[in-house]
Order: sequence, then structure tokens, then C-alpha cells
Amino acid sequence: MTKKTIAVTGATGHVGKAVVARLKEAGHDVRKVSRSSGVPDDDLIALTNAFYGADAAFLMIPPDFKAANLRKRSDELGAKLAMAVKAAGVRRVVFLSSLNAHLRADTGPILGLHDMEERLNALEIPELVHLRPAYFMENHLGGVHFISHHGFYAAALRPDIAIPMIATIDIGAKAAEILAAEPFGEPRVRELLGPRDYTMTQAARILGASIGKPDLKYVQLSYDEARQAMLDMDLTTGYADAMTELSRHMNDTLLEGTEARSAVNTTPTALEQFAQAVFRPAYEEAAAVAR
Ligand SMILES: NC(=O)c1ccc[n+]([C@@H]2O[C@H](COP(=O)([O-])OP(=O)(O)OC[C@H]3O[C@@H](n4cnc5c(N)ncnc54)[C@H](OP(=O)(O)O)[C@@H]3O)[C@@H](O)[C@H]2O)c1
Repeated sequence: MTKKTIAVTGATGHVGKAVVARLKEAGHDVRKVSRSSGVPDDDLIALTNAFYGADAAFLMIPPDFKAANLRKRSDELGAKLAMAVKAAGVRRVVFLSSLNAHLRADTGPILGLHDMEERLNALEIPELVHLRPAYFMENHLGGVHFISHHGFYAAALRPDIAIPMIATIDIGAKAAEILAAEPFGEPRVRELLGPRDYTMTQAARILGASIGKPDLKYVQLSYDEARQAMLDMDLTTGYADAMTELSRHMNDTLLEGTEARSAVNTTPTALEQFAQAVFRPAYEEAAAVAR
């Protein structure tokens, strides 16, 4: 193996952490970029320095709960990331996008990722891959406190539509593989669909089983209820509106990407495994604090 130097943005986040762990395990040098890693990803000079001389970079746009206008905020951060990649002359870039980033309207936070894909395409980076993962299993961690207080799970998604759900460790593993691959042989877009599709009713039962509540019920909230819950958590109206648009999109149009499921876009970690390894410990911690 040739040892590489790889810059990872969002290095302390769900996906970034997994990318860093995989790259380190494989013996590569990793440059971590994030505010708490001491290299803020909205500081152009710090970013360019982190990218300079790197063989490859993993790019992500952090979800900014405080943004007045999410698409504008994504655009500002994306512009800095792109400028730094160009200025540092990074040859290989893997960008964390999303399923349905090919669409141009009605997808809420995914629109900023669509814009960023187009921005990066225009830079003529020699080796560029947009990873388009499905709905993160980690989104269910947002339900931990609600379940521990109310005894059921609730969100704005329909109970009965099957959604591809993916564990972020599997996204990190695929990103790390592409960042370090020798030779490079990737298509421009890689959709990642998780192990299979799950309805929210099925997800509630699987998550519930891991915490001793195998009959855990899922209740669909109205869009207004879900939006108000986000505002009550001090998220901006811009963020809450974008997430509401995404819920509508998923309920009406489905999150199905452009490819049929295949061995290439299916990833290994099942929701049952995620529930045991990640959801249960988070639930037990929240329940202990509440006692
Ligand atoms: N959730 C889904 O279902 C889903 C599906 C497809 C795609 N995506 C995309 O995946 C990305 C999120 O990935 P993730 O879950 O790995 O992210 P995450 O866990 O929220 O991590 C965010 C990372 O960005 C850093 N960061 C820098 N500036 C930040 C800021 N202003 N606010 C918050 N964090 C900031 C954080 O570290 P510091 O705090 O140290 O700076 C952290 O390392 C988004 O672009 C999202 O659109 C999500």
C-alpha cells in the first residue's frame, strides 16, 4: 500500500469520524478539518493549508441548524471548500452528497448538495466522486429523547413507505476506500442504499426491540407539528422549512435515487445491528439522565 495524506472535513461528525477511522486503520496520514479539530471549515486560509499537498480530500457541508437560509449557507460554505480545493490543487475529491441530489427543486437541504455537485463538476478535478447515500440510520438518534419521554416514536414521514436507510459507518468505509484507491476507477456518482428499505413502522419495531420495547409504535406527525417541534428546539425557521420540504418530498416522491438496488449500491450494516451498537447505548444514556 502507498501511504497517502488525506484531508477530511466534518472529521468529528458521523460520516467524517468513520472516514478518519478507516483511513487511519489502513495507515494513511489524516488531516482533520472541523471547528473542534482546530481547523474551522469556514476559514479559507486554514482550509487551503489543510488541503495543500494532500493526495485527496473528503468534503462535506455541515448541517447548520442556525442558518437563516440553508441553501445560501450551504452555498457560502461550498464556495470556500471549492476555492480551497482549487487553490491547493487537490487531485482527488470525494464529496458527501445525498440520494436525490440530481433533482433541482423541492428537496429541502438536498438542494445545497445539488448546487455543490455542480460547483465541483465545473472545477475539472481529475478524480471526483459524489457519494449519494440514503437516509442516515443516525437520524433515528433524534428520536431517543422523545421515545424515552413519551413511549412512542414520531416524525413527519409516512409510516408505510419503504425508505432506504444506511449506517454512516458504511458511508465512511466506502469514502475511505475511494479516497485511498490505487488505481482510481470510480464513476462520478455513487449511490449508497444501505442494506434494504424500511418503513418507519418497521424501523420503530427494530429500534424498540433493542431497548426492550418490541411493540414500539410509530406515529406520523403533521408537517406543522414536526416544524413546530424543530422551532421549539431553537432551530431556525429556514432550517425547519427546509426539513419540512424534505419530509414532503420523501412522502410524496420517495427517496429512490436513480439506480435500482444492486450488490454495488447495497451496504452491509442492517438496522438491527445499528440498533444494538448505536441506538441502544444512546437510549440508555438518555434514560439514565432522565431518571
Ligand atoms: N441525515 C441524512 O439522512 C443525510 C442523508 C444524506 C446526506 N446527508 C448529508 O450529510 C451531511 C451531514 O453529515 P454528518 O451527519 O456526518 O454530519 P454531522 O455529524 O452533523 O457533523 C458535522 C461536522 O461538521 C463540523 N462542522 C463545521 N462547521 C459546522 C457548523 N457550522 N455546524 C455544525 N457542524 C459543523 C462538525 O465538527 P465541529 O463541530 O468540530 O466543527 C462535524 O465534524 C450533510 O451535508 C447532510 O445534508 C445527510
